[in-house]
Amino acid sequence: MELDAWITAAVEVRRRAYAPYSQFAVGAALITEEGRIFTGCNVENISFGLTICAERVALGSALAAGERRFRAITIVADTQVPVSPCGACRQVLAEFAPGLEVHLATLRGVRVRFSLAELLPRAATGILDRP
Ligand code: THU
Repeated sequence: MELDAWITAAVEVRRRAYAPYSQFAVGAALITEEGRIFTGCNVENISFGLTICAERVALGSALAAGERRFRAITIVADTQVPVSPCGACRQVLAEFAPGLEVHLATLRGVRVRFSLAELLPRAATGILDRP
């Protein structure tokens, strides 16, 4: 099943997380409309606020390869309850795919599914409107 392959990709890239400060490794697999998979892990920094989440690393990788249209993202961490993307990542993903499927999974096999519109309603409503 394709979701299994997406989760496997996220689990594999999670091993490359650079997370010496939080010790919290995250992996993400972003799926294009054509089914290509781009992965990312979190990249922390000694100046904590500069940390980049796995989701945005995956998005940057896909954009750098010329992709602009996305179907789904799968995010994996080793928690009891699946980790859901932070507000910044929700907004950045919504720029390209407001209706993205968001699949959250844990290493122990918990899986849940949302749409990005559920996680971030009204992402761009009104922005740049002029009276
Ligand atoms: N993190 C992600 O990469 N993605 C998420 O969805 C949640 C949080 C990272 C950021 C930081 O390196 C660590 O997890 C702890 O917040």
